[in-house]
Amino acid sequence: MGFHTFDAAKAAKLDDPAARYRYVSAEELVWAVGATGTATLADLGSGTGFYTDDVAAHAETVYGVDVQEAMHDHYRENGVPENVELVTAEVAALPFDDGELDGAFSTMTFHEFADDDAITEIARTVAADGRVAVADWSADGAGEAGPPLAERFGLEEAQARFEAGGFEVEFGASRSETFLLVGRAP
Ligand SMILES: C[S@@+](CC[C@H](N)C(=O)[O-])C[C@H]1O[C@@H](n2cnc3c(N)ncnc32)[C@H](O)[C@@H]1O
Repeated sequence: MGFHTFDAAKAAKLDDPAARYRYVSAEELVWAVGATGTATLADLGSGTGFYTDDVAAHAETVYGVDVQEAMHDHYRENGVPENVELVTAEVAALPFDDGELDGAFSTMTFHEFADDDAITEIARTVAADGRVAVADWSADGAGEAGPPLAERFGLEEAQARFEAGGFEVEFGASRSETFLLVGRAP
């Protein structure tokens, strides 16, 4: 596991478009995932489904994976698209077959699950060459929003962890408060 898990009592904070799209846009996320309309993807730490919905509009199936059932309950109250299936699991123990996923993405959650077991599990479940897109609060950010800087990773550390897990990182950008990384599964 990484740093502390998001408090489900604050779930409603994740549903404010003005606050969310300021840091990560739906358009860049759909681009980063390389969503084609036919892919089976997983959203790792899907929360209330804020970004799951955006990607699901460009995918065949999206598994919304979250360790907290309370976050899925909040997503159900918001309304879950027909092509989204909610899965209660840890990223380090995904209930998918080897290579079952065409790709995966994660928003603002890497710092909560980032360890070798999780990255190994992503590598196992995403098909070879499948895209994995990670957007998260950056340790190199200003700290004006999001978790404390001490609980975040920078782009270089995130990249090193994925590369150690066999991923080829083909895009990385460090911005004012977040980073965006795109890797290819081994
Ligand atoms: C900060 S919220 C972000 C939710 C969503 N990705 C978004 O951007 O709106 C982090 C979410 O990841 C989930 N989470 C944290 N650690 C996890 C883990 N190891 N496995 C699965 N889900 C996890 C939390 O329960 C929470 O719902």
